[in-house]
Amino acid sequence: MSEQTLNNRDETVVEMLPAEAAAPASEPDAVLPAEQPVAEEPLDPEALLEVRHLKKYFPAKKDFFGRPVSFVKAVDDVSFKIRPGTTLGIVGESGCGKTTLGRTILRLQPATDGQIFFDGKDINILKTAEMNALRPQMQIIFQDPYSSLSPRMPIGEIIGEAVVQHKLVPKSDVKDYVLGVMKNCGLPYHYYERYPHEFSGGQRQRICIATALALTPRFVVCDEPVSALDVSIQAQIINLLKDMQDKMGLTYIFISHDLSVVEHISDNVGVMYLGSMVEYGSTEDIFDKPMHPYTEALFSAVPIPDPDRHSKRIILSGDIPSPINAPSGCKFHTRCNRCMDICKEVAPAFKDYGNGHMVACHLYSQD
Ligand SMILES: Nc1ncnc2c1ncn2[C@@H]1O[C@H](COP(=O)(O)OP(=O)(O)O)[C@@H](O)[C@H]1O
Ligand code: SF4
Ligand SMILES: [Mg+2]
Repeated sequence: MSEQTLNNRDETVVEMLPAEAAAPASEPDAVLPAEQPVAEEPLDPEALLEVRHLKKYFPAKKDFFGRPVSFVKAVDDVSFKIRPGTTLGIVGESGCGKTTLGRTILRLQPATDGQIFFDGKDINILKTAEMNALRPQMQIIFQDPYSSLSPRMPIGEIIGEAVVQHKLVPKSDVKDYVLGVMKNCGLPYHYYERYPHEFSGGQRQRICIATALALTPRFVVCDEPVSALDVSIQAQIINLLKDMQDKMGLTYIFISHDLSVVEHISDNVGVMYLGSMVEYGSTEDIFDKPMHPYTEALFSAVPIPDPDRHSKRIILSGDIPSPINAPSGCKFHTRCNRCMDICKEVAPAFKDYGNGHMVACHLYSQD
């Protein structure tokens, strides 16, 4: 499904730029170290999730013998942490690696390198049985509620399936349990026996949310959960996600190209460009004081209803480069209106410039 914005923000410059060419669909084998990697720094005891130098490369071209000779660097050395009960918004143009980041963190696909600590455990190296035991705690809600629901199962069975599989409640209590989850997610009791095709997009997304939350997760990746819905329904789904976060103490990664939705729901925001995180900080800092030229350009294209906030629209020039052959130095240098000589040669370090506001840009590291 195309990433069209569904509110009035579809003017954004970034959405008008050509999308990245589709990459090959094959999955590479994990290229993980055989032994448990030793963390250089102690883990943050206050973080539920800590991602360190995460990489996910997909083979792009293969040689005569089927060996990959080039890679799509969909996630390329990304690090961040999330505290329990908070939401990290991830923004960036289509193809910058948001979905790949979410799926790799959940180990729905193997990481190429890096570490993903969930509750202190590096999940990259967990054995299948240990990972399966952890699965209910880490859930995902997808953009498209039409394709993510089995058309042949009634709603009650869909929501209860994994509950039964993971033996979360005794078999005799499953129906009552599912009805309770449905009620919390705004789904009336009589939907229990009905089928997905009988519902609208908004109701289907409620069913998807109920299916994920029935497992009482601690962490949920919400991948563009409202992008396919009518504007009138979007706020209801966002409010449901927020209510459930308050009730269950959930921790979210909220992926969206709609900056207004991200601002509304996120405590912190990470900005991605060509597989890298170029800026990270509190929602206020990122929206009020963006530092990276890419973030500035991204946000300058959004109409601002607040009269105290002014921004001049910055037009990004040039196409998005290929993630197979990303520009040298700063990956953004081919489109940056403040590019300096050093930017073409040296990749800027991702540094904290106060209050946990992290930026990868030579403009600041030169000071
Ligand atoms: N399974 C895959 N095989 C090969 N390339 C992929 C695969 N999934 C994603 N990619 C590529 O990785 C890059 C990032 O994609 P994606 O994570 O879907 O971006 P976003 O969610 O930000 O739009 C894109 O260039 C995309 O074509
Ligand atoms: S490092 Fe240079 S090219 Fe990259 S964003 Fe900063 S100023 Fe622009
Ligand atoms: Mg995506």
